[in-house]
Amino acid sequence: MDPQADEGLRAVAEKIKECRRCPLCEARNNPVPGEGGFRKGIMFIGEAPGKNEDEKGRPFVGKAGELLNELLDSIGLTRDDVFITNVVKCRPPNNRDPAPEEVNACSPFLEKQILILKPKIIVALGRHAWKWVCEHMGIPYESLSKARGKIYRSNTLLYGTIDVMPTYHPAAAIYRKEILPLLKEDFRKLGKLFRGTDC
Ligand code: URA
Repeated sequence: MDPQADEGLRAVAEKIKECRRCPLCEARNNPVPGEGGFRKGIMFIGEAPGKNEDEKGRPFVGKAGELLNELLDSIGLTRDDVFITNVVKCRPPNNRDPAPEEVNACSPFLEKQILILKPKIIVALGRHAWKWVCEHMGIPYESLSKARGKIYRSNTLLYGTIDVMPTYHPAAAIYRKEILPLLKEDFRKLGKLFRGTDC
């Protein structure tokens, strides 16, 4: 990652550590700003940290993270190639959905991370991330079951076009086995997209 981006991300992470904009800071053990070497210019956005992530201060390190690692591996990517973060940077108690006020309070951090990294591709994992990118990146919303695996082009940000692909959250595939083949299919599309071949 270019050193300036790295420094910018560190500054955002520091702000997240000090953040008291919403009640999630009260119960958190560690905020989870996000991480990854970003060698291939791809950003993954999940929902919010869970128990394991809150303990370690790192994104996707539990069961859903293991599946994400496998999916990345299946298309020849590692965590060094991507940046992984979440819509909300602190764990909602008992893994409940983040509240709209919490998402709003946390949004400037994700906006800033996107502006610093300037990803070529954003993958939205699950409905919360998908809703967020629709609302913040000028993409017309349709349900995740209709939108998954499609490539949307966003050019609302100052630096050019971003390809956005929504897909299911890996945790959904752990609880609903019928989701796994769809998730794998979407990752194959992602593989073709970042290699520049037709989907
Ligand atoms: N689920 C998420 O959405 N994010 C994580 O970091 C872990 C699990």
